[in-house]
Amino acid sequence: MKPVIAALCVLVTSAAGGARATTVLITGSDRGLGLEFARQYAARGDTVIATCRHPEKAAGLQALASANKGVVVEKLDVSDDADIKSLAARYKARPIDILINNAGVLGAHEDQTLGTFSRKGFHEVMDVNSFGALAVSEALRENVIASTQKKIIAITSGAGSITLAGGKPRRPYYYQMSKAALDMGMRSLGADLKSQGVVVALVAPGGVDTEMNAAFRSDYMSGTSPPAKPAEAIAKMMALIDRLDQAKAESGINVLDGTIIPW
Ligand SMILES: NC(=O)c1ccc[n+]([C@@H]2O[C@H](COP(=O)([O-])OP(=O)(O)OC[C@H]3O[C@@H](n4cnc5c(N)ncnc54)[C@H](OP(=O)(O)O)[C@@H]3O)[C@@H](O)[C@H]2O)c1
Repeated sequence: MKPVIAALCVLVTSAAGGARATTVLITGSDRGLGLEFARQYAARGDTVIATCRHPEKAAGLQALASANKGVVVEKLDVSDDADIKSLAARYKARPIDILINNAGVLGAHEDQTLGTFSRKGFHEVMDVNSFGALAVSEALRENVIASTQKKIIAITSGAGSITLAGGKPRRPYYYQMSKAALDMGMRSLGADLKSQGVVVALVAPGGVDTEMNAAFRSDYMSGTSPPAKPAEAIAKMMALIDRLDQAKAESGINVLDGTIIPW
């Protein structure tokens, strides 16, 4: 098939009758920031491959998919190699413009408190937050390379910035370490995929009102300013992702106001 015909074949008709030219795949999209990403990309008329660990329990996501033909729900546990392999096989040769590595865990407070460290707890957090994003990106890289926008995004945190974290006591060790490792992994991935035009970028949302943020605030940061609403934060994050280019991606961790924080 000629390339131009192949490209036309992947366009899906939007609810508004126009063409859905952008395909977005989101990990961990059954709640929190991931669900809000799915809602807002769907509202924009994009095709959304909304992945989560337990599609059968994802009531909010299933309701979104029922109301919007552009949303498909897929099973993906980012710590499960069989899930990753199976998803990549089902979507082989299908362009993905924006891959959003959003899935993440904070980890149990008691596991990452000085005096009660746990190797198992450490592995769980690193597996999801660092290796999960890397493995999903590896498996779907050809889909991103085949797309128009060619963006791989990882949702990181200022908590993973070694510069910013310095000197603050009582912090979640594994979560911080996992985000720093995620940042380094994505930086290496960006270098490997740059020649193919892929932009690999790290975006930190700041404090946003989700289940993870509530746990973070109660265990580590009570008394600080209230978190942003997910709808506002995701609207800003999507605008930021639209503006991202190689230079911004390579300069550090991108935050919602368009500035960069250091690694
Ligand atoms: N909210 C904030 O203030 C904030 C700040 C900085 C960075 N972040 C980052 O933003 C991302 C989203 O966080 P959130 O605040 O939306 O947290 P959340 O409300 O706790 O949601 C976490 C999501 O990740 C999913 N997940 C966990 N383990 C997974 C796995 N093995 N495979 C696939 N999905 C998995 C969860 O699925 P289940 O429902 O199956 O558990 C859920 O959908 C995370 O990477 C987090 O580190 C958040």
